[in-house]
Amino acid sequence: MTHTAHFKVWRGDTDGGDLRDYEVEVNDGEVVLDIIHRLQATQAADLAVRWNCKAGKCGSCSAEVNGRPRLMCMTRMSVFEPDETVTVTPLRAFPVIRDLVTDVSFNYDKARQVPAFVPPKGVPAGEYRMQQVDVERSQEFRKCIECFLCQDTCHVVRDHEENKAAFAGPRFLMRIAELDMHPLDAAADQGLVRAASAQEDHGLGYCNITKCCTEVCPEHIQITDNALIPLKERAIDRKYDPLVWLGSRIRRR
Ligand code: SF4
Ligand code: F3S
Ligand code: FES
Repeated sequence: MTHTAHFKVWRGDTDGGDLRDYEVEVNDGEVVLDIIHRLQATQAADLAVRWNCKAGKCGSCSAEVNGRPRLMCMTRMSVFEPDETVTVTPLRAFPVIRDLVTDVSFNYDKARQVPAFVPPKGVPAGEYRMQQVDVERSQEFRKCIECFLCQDTCHVVRDHEENKAAFAGPRFLMRIAELDMHPLDAAADQGLVRAASAQEDHGLGYCNITKCCTEVCPEHIQITDNALIPLKERAIDRKYDPLVWLGSRIRRR
């Protein structure tokens, strides 16, 4: 079955822009990215859109569809009523380059600020041993496709550009949580207490557990429950446990 849908697509660049109206053909089984491609092919050859896999795995086609951060390639047209207007806009938390393409380098900057895994001393590569439960905990976080929908939706930065310098965002706080829970990470031996650093250096305290990040994650990662809340608990434990505090002071010497 084919029908004609009414789309509004944001067109513009760093100087500004507006929503443009399009009437476009929709066929059974299509997703929003198919419609954007049809617009490029038939009505708007210069419409800028970033995509790659069309399979929900590269994280490139992130945009806002009717105001909700989504992967365009994983948003079926069947979720909308045939007569419903579908509005597609670029991610709001990041600067627009052109049309639906935003500059997400904020996220790469934040990624670089998280110190890497510190290998344990005296254990050669290939000899690392972990409990299966610890492997599975990391694997959930490793499903991240870096679509940055969670970064886009978090209210801490969505409408507050001024918070960006101090807040790593859910994706990178989750990375810190993964490393903090990793039984082989030896960062603490070098004086880096990751949970404390999340609080002091990466803005964990800005997160007030609204869980919007978890709601939009296309990989269904339990970002808030499995990463952010445990990280907050570990940061508090570190802060208020006198033995842990004393231990970390001695190790720093
Ligand atoms: Fe995307 Fe989920 Fe990774 Fe956030 S945690 S970047 S929403 S896959
Ligand atoms: Fe933001 Fe997620 Fe916390 S949306 S406030 S990082 S729970
Ligand atoms: Fe790769 Fe959508 S095109 S996630």
